[in-house]
Amino acid sequence: MKGTILAGGKATRLRPLTWVTNKHLLPVYNKPMIFYALESMARAGIKEVLITSSVEHLPHFIHLLKSGHDFHLKLNYAIQEDAGGGIAQAVALAEDFAGKEKILVILGDNIFTHDLSKAVVEFEQQGRGAKVFAKKMPTDSKQYGVIELDKNGKVISIEEKPEHPKSDLAQTGIYMYDSQVYEFIREQKPSTRGEMEVTDLNNKYLAQGTVTCEIMDGWWIDAGTSYDELLRANNLVAELIKTGNQ
Ligand code: DAU
Repeated sequence: MKGTILAGGKATRLRPLTWVTNKHLLPVYNKPMIFYALESMARAGIKEVLITSSVEHLPHFIHLLKSGHDFHLKLNYAIQEDAGGGIAQAVALAEDFAGKEKILVILGDNIFTHDLSKAVVEFEQQGRGAKVFAKKMPTDSKQYGVIELDKNGKVISIEEKPEHPKSDLAQTGIYMYDSQVYEFIREQKPSTRGEMEVTDLNNKYLAQGTVTCEIMDGWWIDAGTSYDELLRANNLVAELIKTGNQ
């Protein structure tokens, strides 16, 4: 299984920090944000990772991360020409890189402690389908994709930032897909806000009855949502390091 880390987008919610600097290069305590996604990939047992970003910022990642040797990863890079075109559009860039292999997608602004290695092994062995990862967010699930499960843990619905969330389970920025994903993205249309949405993509798998959901342990932060979440990420990482847990 291969991996891709998405590091494009416009990061409007973190301006002026992101007028010049790519969001995923902002510091989170003692490292640039993207290091955490790379470390999660390596910990999951992934060996080859594709990093996608805008034509303007991709050279910054190449300069910083080089071959990936320091992370025990082989890194590849791809330009997302329309850097705000949507998460599904960025995933599509992995088609030649991954071929028939399954792919683990991590959004570069997601920082989490959950170990994905068991899920990677299980997903590699299963047949076709996708897996989404959820985290209970009791007070603010509506600022994320929201996943509704039945009492057996089967996915019933996934909605993007709904006004009235059907559950408190946020759809995190971690996804696993089989090689059907590129065909599904080709069939997809941009949403009303003009983006190729990951939630629309995941709903294709839901309609096919092949999407499963895993609830994550530990903490999870989408550090790109606000200055406060970015600050919270800094504090949680500092705490982990100071208590010797990382
Ligand atoms: O983090 C989890 C959330 O991520 C999910 O709950 C939502 O369902 C999902 O749509 C997404 O929402 P965000 O509002 O956080 O998406 P954002 O535009 O911030 O982009 C998330 C990441 O994807 C970010 O690291 C940048 C990257 N990205 C985004 C877009 C739109 C790209 O690489 N290219 C893009 O075109």
